[in-house]
Amino acid sequence: MALTQMKHLNLNLKKNERIGVDYIKGILQPTPTCDIWDEIWNFQAKPDDLLISTYPKAGTTWIQEIVDMIQNDGNIEKCKRAPTHLRFAFIELKIPSLPSGVDKANAMPSPRKLKTHLPIQLLPPSFLEKGCKIIYVARNAKDILVSYYHFQKMNAVLPDPGTWEEYFEDFLDGKVCWGSWYDHVKGWWEAKDKYPILYLFYEDMKENPKHEIQKIMEFMGKNLDEDALDKIIYHTSFDIMKKNPMANYTTIPGEIMDHSVSPFMRKGTVGDWKNYFTVAQNERFNEIYKEKMADTTLSFFMDD
Ligand code: A3P
Repeated sequence: MALTQMKHLNLNLKKNERIGVDYIKGILQPTPTCDIWDEIWNFQAKPDDLLISTYPKAGTTWIQEIVDMIQNDGNIEKCKRAPTHLRFAFIELKIPSLPSGVDKANAMPSPRKLKTHLPIQLLPPSFLEKGCKIIYVARNAKDILVSYYHFQKMNAVLPDPGTWEEYFEDFLDGKVCWGSWYDHVKGWWEAKDKYPILYLFYEDMKENPKHEIQKIMEFMGKNLDEDALDKIIYHTSFDIMKKNPMANYTTIPGEIMDHSVSPFMRKGTVGDWKNYFTVAQNERFNEIYKEKMADTTLSFFMDD
């Protein structure tokens, strides 16, 4: 669908009405995704597909911009050819009256760039069978919780988050779309040694973008010069992406994403959770975190 048509999208939602949710194998998903689950599960990946996988709000859009810049040898104009959601097919996304992520991927020329938020056990099996390269980005759970809360407020494809206190509990219980953050980050962490998966951290990208971008370049089999690398670091910085309509989701109809409620490019920092967590919430969070992360070598920097 052309962008201009999309501006006049009619989801038939009343003001403040949301698309519903349902469970797929114990994981909450927007209902339209559940309705076409067989099609998603049977998606046929190709060996040269590059998949970006994240738990929501881990920095997906940031890594997408970096990957596109690398693939286009640091050419900014080429990366401004279309908004993020048209440059990358979001495999499990289905919005009524729009082509599904699977449809978009099937219409893309190779090598395709794809995106998913699915936990590893729900990933269409062909990605691992075909040996596709996958970049996974993880972000600390406290900042994800804050970012996801704001995102659900502004996004009609996801349920209304309710109050901050209610959302805090839902998140800890994994009763949010794409399920438990703990299971997600741990599941992909375990898979990284068996499959071609580059596992990155948002906090590392903030601390040393050059180093992380070099890792991604190497993983993608690209060798760009210092000049191109500098352009990529600049073009994918938070302040520049926030102003770029092809990267900040402002081309999405207001009926789906309402940036006046909360901008998609909100703060882009590490440690914003301190502005939201009460002392009691933080203590409760730390206790549960310790329990749930006791069986893994994976650890996170949370600025605490
Ligand atoms: P905040 O809500 O904490 O600001 P996703 O793309 O997975 O939905 O993640 C969105 C989060 O990544 C938002 O976090 C957004 O601001 C942040 N983000 C997007 N681009 C960024 C960039 N270039 N640098 C740092 N953070 C970025």
